[in-house]
Amino acid sequence: MIPDILVVGGGIIGLGIALELRDRGAQVQVLEGQMPGAATPAAAGMLAPQAEDLAPGPLLDLCLLSRGLYGPWTEKLTARTSMPSGYWPCGILAPLYQNPSRGRSGVWLDLESLREKVPGLSVEVTGGWWFSMDAQVDNQALWSCLLKAVQLAGVEVLPAAAVKFHHRGDKVEFLETGSGCLSAGHYVLAAGAWSSKLYPLPVAPLKGQMLVLRGPRLDQVVFGPDVYLVPRRDGRLLVGATTEEVGFTPGNTAAGISNLLQAALRLLPTLASYTLEGYWWGFRPSTPDGWPILGPSQWDNLTLATGHLRNGILLAPATAQLISNWVWERQTHPLLEPFGVGRPSLQENLI
Ligand code: GLY
Repeated sequence: MIPDILVVGGGIIGLGIALELRDRGAQVQVLEGQMPGAATPAAAGMLAPQAEDLAPGPLLDLCLLSRGLYGPWTEKLTARTSMPSGYWPCGILAPLYQNPSRGRSGVWLDLESLREKVPGLSVEVTGGWWFSMDAQVDNQALWSCLLKAVQLAGVEVLPAAAVKFHHRGDKVEFLETGSGCLSAGHYVLAAGAWSSKLYPLPVAPLKGQMLVLRGPRLDQVVFGPDVYLVPRRDGRLLVGATTEEVGFTPGNTAAGISNLLQAALRLLPTLASYTLEGYWWGFRPSTPDGWPILGPSQWDNLTLATGHLRNGILLAPATAQLISNWVWERQTHPLLEPFGVGRPSLQENLI
C-alpha cells in the first residue's frame, strides 16, 4: 500500500508531524534512520524561548506559541499511552556575572533571591532573570511516549536510512533507502542535521556535547553564562552544551567536557560533590540565519520541516500543527510563511 504521507525522520519533529497527520485521517509512514548523534535524544529538553533570549520577531512568536501548546500536547500523549513525557513547567533562572546591560522579559532577582531558589549559587553571580513560563521536558521520555502514540495510532515506523529522493520534473517519484525504495503521495523532510544530504538546503550540523551529574535535586533550570543545568525529577542534572562547527565529527572530547564542568562548577560550586554519570554528543540542525526551514519545496509533493537548531524540542508541537495544516489542507499561516526556504537570508547559502 502506498501511504498518503512518508515522513523522512523519526525524531520529535517527524513523529509529531506524523501523529498530527494521522489524527486528521492520513495514512502515514515514518522512516527512522537511527543516526548516531541525532538531536532528539541528545537534547536537554529546555522549553526556553525567553531564557534563550530570542529577538522579537517570528521565531520568538513561533517558540512562544509552541511553549503554550506543550502542556495540552504532552497530556494528550500521556493519556493515549500511559507513558510519562517528563513535561515540567519549572521555570528557568538565568544568572549573570555582571549587572544586566538591558531589560529583558523576565523578572530581575538579586543574588539573595536567586539563592532562595538555587542554594549555593556562586558569589560571583550579581543577580539573574527569572522566566516563570519557561519550562522543560524529558526529551527521551517524550520521544518514547510519542513513538508509542504514533504506533498506537497506526503509523508504520520503518527503521531504515534515507539515501536519495528520485524526482521527475517537479515531483518526487520515490525515496531510495538503505533497504529498498518507498513511494508516497507526499513526502515530509524532517531529517534534522542530515537534511541537506537529501535536498539542497543550507542545513549543517552544529555539534553539542553534554554530560549528566547526579546529586541533590534543583527545582528550576539554571541557564547560566556558558553553561546550562537541567534537573530531572529523578535527581539527574544535565549539563550542556558545547557549540562546535566540526561537521559530523563524532565523540566527546576532553576539552568539551572540561569546559562544561568548569563553567558548571563556577556557577554552582556545590556541584563538585555530584557524581558524574555519563556524557554524549549530538548534532543540532543549523541554518545560516538560525531559523527553521518550514513549508513547501521546489518539488510539489515535498514539504520541509527542518533546521530547528537549538529549539527543535520546543518547536515540535507548533511545527506539527502548522506543517500538517499545510500538507493536508494546503492551509498556510502567518507563522509559517516567514520560515520558507525562499527567504532572502537563505538564498545566498543554498547548496
Ligand atoms: N537548546 C539548547 C542547545 O541547543 O544547546
